[in-house]
Amino acid sequence: MGLSFTSLAPESGEFDSPDAIRQAVERRLGKLLSDTQESHDPVSQAICSSVLVPGKRIRPLLLVLAARELGCRVPALFDLGSAVEMIHTASLILDDLPCMDNASMRRGRPTIHRQYGEDVAMLAVVALLSRALGVVSDLSALPAGQRAVMISQLSRAVGTQGLVKGQYEDLHEAQKPRSVADVMVTNRHKTGVLFQVSMQLVAVVTGIDRAATESLERFALALGQAYQLCDDLGDGDATQGKDIDQDQDKATLVNLLGAQEVRRLLNEQLEEADRHLSAVYGERSALSGFLKKLFPLS
Ligand code: IPE
Ligand code: IPE
Ligand code: MG
Ligand code: MG
Ligand code: MG
Repeated sequence: MGLSFTSLAPESGEFDSPDAIRQAVERRLGKLLSDTQESHDPVSQAICSSVLVPGKRIRPLLLVLAARELGCRVPALFDLGSAVEMIHTASLILDDLPCMDNASMRRGRPTIHRQYGEDVAMLAVVALLSRALGVVSDLSALPAGQRAVMISQLSRAVGTQGLVKGQYEDLHEAQKPRSVADVMVTNRHKTGVLFQVSMQLVAVVTGIDRAATESLERFALALGQAYQLCDDLGDGDATQGKDIDQDQDKATLVNLLGAQEVRRLLNEQLEEADRHLSAVYGERSALSGFLKKLFPLS
C-alpha cells in the first residue's frame, strides 16, 4: 500500500486544486533555491538533487490548503510550505545515511550520500535546515513577531523533542520489546511533529483562536500517525521510489500487529483526523475531500 497522487489532477476551473498548489510549491522551492541551482559545488548540487526532484509535497500542500480554506491567501504561504519541505527533505537525507537506515534509493534516485558521499550529504542537511529557518526569517511580508514564533516552532519540531528524538528512538529502541503505544510515540516524533508544525504555522499566519489551533494540531498528529502507518504498509511496494523491505528488522506496527490490524488502525487515525478537521472547517471541507482522495480507505 502506498499513496498515489495520480487521482488528484485538478478539476477544470478549480484554481485551488491540490495539483495547482503542488505546482506552485515546486515553483517557489525552485525560486528559493535559485542561487543554489546556479552554484556548482557538490553541496549545492546535493541540495538541489534532494529537494528539486519529485516528492509528494504533502506537508506544504496541507499547509497551503489549510490556510487558504481559512481565507488566508498571502504568497508567504508558499514560502512557509517550502521551509517545511526543506526540513522534511533534510530529514530524508539523514534518514538514508548508512549509520541510519542505510538506504540506497530515494524519490526514484540513488540516495544523496550514494551520489555525493556521506560528507556532502551531511553538509547538505545542515545547509537545508539552516536555509529553511532563513526562508521564514526573510519573510518581510509577515510581522517580525509572527516570524519569530514560527522559527521557534520549527526549531522545536526539528530538535530533541521532535524529529531528532523520533529518529533516535526508531534506530535504538527497535530491538527492544515495544508496545503499540511506544511505537506510536516514536511515530509521533519522527513523522507527526512535522505535520503538527505545519498546522502551527497556519494558526500563526491566520490568527485563529486557541481552540481551532488545538483542533488543527490534533488533526495533524492523527494524520501523521496515519501517514506513517501507510508508509510502513508500503514497505514492500517498489513503486514508491525507495528501497523495499527496509523495515524488516524494525519494530514497526506492521511487524508488531500485521497488515490487517494496521489497516484498521490507519482508518481509525484517519477518522480521528477528520473529526478534528470538522471542528474547524465543518463537515465538508476541501481539505477533507483532498485527504479522502489521497488515502484509499481499506
Ligand atoms: C517519507 O515521507 C518519510 C515519512 C515520514 C513516511 P514522504 O512519503 O512524504 O516522502 P516524499 O516527500 O514524498 O519523498
Ligand atoms: C520516516 O521514517 C521518518 C523520517 C523522518 C524519515 P522512515 O525511515 O520510515 O522513512 P522512509 O520509509 O525511509 O521514507
Ligand atoms: Mg527511518
Ligand atoms: Mg528510512
Ligand atoms: Mg518507511
